[in-house]
Amino acid sequence: MEIGILVYSETGHTISVIDAFKKANEASHVIDIFRISTNASKTSISNIPTTIKKYERLIIAGPVQGFSLCAPLILAIKEIGDFGDKKMDILLTQHFRWAALGGNRALRQAQTEIIFRHGNVEKSTIVHWSSRHREDQIQQAIKLLSTF
Ligand SMILES: Cc1cc2nc3c(=O)[nH]c(=O)nc-3n(C[C@H](O)[C@H](O)[C@H](O)COP(=O)(O)O)c2cc1C
Repeated sequence: MEIGILVYSETGHTISVIDAFKKANEASHVIDIFRISTNASKTSISNIPTTIKKYERLIIAGPVQGFSLCAPLILAIKEIGDFGDKKMDILLTQHFRWAALGGNRALRQAQTEIIFRHGNVEKSTIVHWSSRHREDQIQQAIKLLSTF
């Protein structure tokens, strides 16, 4: 399967999970990671390849910021515009141990934005960075995202 991953990561947390996912699956799948970047004011993004819609599965990954989905991912989703019933997964990372402190809201936001643009959201997961179970959560997230 060809899997495209659109990831935004400021301090390296989310990209580290995505890198581990790629490492776990690259022997049997084509996995292309696109790390998006922004201008200084985070009002515009770059690095979304024109080929992004060719992937059979698309993973959207990034941090929770201000109890919301981080702005660059919202911009990216809007820029892609229409996901054409594509299979999609969402991976978020957040600082707090409880999803109620931003994760749930950000996840709902991501799901709503994607579904509105005809993406078919299948798996969603959050890694809580300050949790003492973080390593387990990362392994669980990788396992979940690796069920195709
Ligand atoms: C501006 C800003 C706002 C944040 N807001 C939240 C929040 O509402 N809830 C939370 O749990 N973590 C919050 N965090 C922490 C990040 O979600 C967390 O550190 C995440 O794992 C960072 O991922 P990254 O290194 O891939 O960017 C915030 C971080 C920043 C920089």
